[in-house]
Amino acid sequence: MTLKFATTADAPESAATPCIIVGLYEGRELTRAAARVDERSGGAIKRLIESGDATGKPGSSTLLFGLANIAAPRVLVVGLGEQKKFDSTAFHRAANDTGRALKNLPIEAAVSYLTEIDVPGRDNAWKLRAAALAADQQAYRYTATFKPKEAAQPPQLGSIAFAAPANEAKAARALAEAAAIAKGVRFARELGNLPPNICNPAWIAAQAKQIADEHAGVILEVLEREDMQKLGMGSLLGVAQGSAHPPKLVVLRWQGKDDKAKPYALVGKGITFDSGGISLKPGAGMEEMKFDMCGGAGMLGTFLAAVELKLPLNLVCVVPVVENMPDGNSYRPSDILTSMSGITIEVLNTDAEGRLILCDALTYVQKFDPEVIIDAATLTGACVVALGKHASGLMTQDDELAEQLLAAGNTAHDRAWRLPLWDEYQSQLDSAFADVANIGGKYGGAIMAGCFLSRFTSGRRWAHLDIAGTAWDEGRKGLATGRPVSLLTQYLIDRSA
Ligand code: BES
Ligand code: MN
Ligand code: ZN
Repeated sequence: MTLKFATTADAPESAATPCIIVGLYEGRELTRAAARVDERSGGAIKRLIESGDATGKPGSSTLLFGLANIAAPRVLVVGLGEQKKFDSTAFHRAANDTGRALKNLPIEAAVSYLTEIDVPGRDNAWKLRAAALAADQQAYRYTATFKPKEAAQPPQLGSIAFAAPANEAKAARALAEAAAIAKGVRFARELGNLPPNICNPAWIAAQAKQIADEHAGVILEVLEREDMQKLGMGSLLGVAQGSAHPPKLVVLRWQGKDDKAKPYALVGKGITFDSGGISLKPGAGMEEMKFDMCGGAGMLGTFLAAVELKLPLNLVCVVPVVENMPDGNSYRPSDILTSMSGITIEVLNTDAEGRLILCDALTYVQKFDPEVIIDAATLTGACVVALGKHASGLMTQDDELAEQLLAAGNTAHDRAWRLPLWDEYQSQLDSAFADVANIGGKYGGAIMAGCFLSRFTSGRRWAHLDIAGTAWDEGRKGLATGRPVSLLTQYLIDRSA
């Protein structure tokens, strides 16, 4: 369950809630709400600054309890950093810090005054959405595969209200968008976090069915191995060959507009586990390859968010769901696969499998004559080396589409950075035995994968997002992030305006 979002016009001192949140800049500068709480409470916040307990540094927060003349028992003072440097990124940071602090409190509700703070270039609607999504991002808990708790649990945050001018239609819309995106993000995170012995191709197809069952107007089709054989999807089927789990091709459609309008196509990599296949991965870190379906989950989550908002556009979402395993029947290095497009592919590494399932999905989706095709995939370790964990890699030959996606990412703070797809790179994919090889040597690995996909989208407006670095957080306790659901939902919202 996502958090419930609301707005409030209550003054900070009179909000009847277990906790209010106010911001404090570095250098003793109080925000309006903090100043108000300070004044009513007889200087509680200034004393906190005097004693050095509150600094206003980014990432710091201090909890005050039982202040005089303040209705809420708790006041969370969140550090904002320097006022003159306060921008969108700092706002996101403060909103996420708030969410983390709230998670540890035994409370079911809170009221945040962070949305009153000025953010250059951003309006109230933006602040509401950003604050709400950050709160939900931090409130999420993964519990599916733990032993059910027997003892009573402390209360957990279930709702949060934000200070906003009363009766603003834009505010209601902003929170409706946040609620839909939060739902899509949670959907993607939960699928990503589930282990591959549960979250296998059939499981993902069942989740897609649930989306279709719960939303009038959504049409689902799941192609089985035999269907894919008939269509000639030799590339996807090659990857699937080594797994005991039969592959699925999930196709979801939404008609938010008349039939004549071309759909936006979302294609996501759904490798439920990537062992590397015969080109087996090293053991260390292999468990992270359960997240190799995050592109697919992200596209399903984006689709869910768009449908929740009943966006007035047509959508088709295609997710090839396959497990990549070593087996006596596995495909092997040097195999030649014939893709649905007819293009033949020399397999030089069975660990470059994502592009092999995506190419057939990209060919298939063109039967819907889409306006634009966007794919998302945890495609290359090279992308993580190039861009780290903060930016998704964006590749497209369409400058306008690039600008739109980069802008959506900035708005949603789910950012991407463009890498080139120049023709000069293409010859690295030459093969002596087939039309194209599935790997391109040691340089520019993320771009090589993009180049490979581009062979299957010629003549189309298409963009590729490599989310290998952004789809989950680092380390043993790293969870799926839900990226790029907010970027892509923002892109679709922008297109339907
Ligand atoms: N799923 C991996 C990419 C990946 C690796 C994502 C690490 C996140 C973290 C993909 O299928 C893969 O194995 N790619 C290879 C490509 C190589 C064989 C050309 C890679 O990146 O090493
Ligand atoms: Mn791989
Ligand atoms: Zn993979």
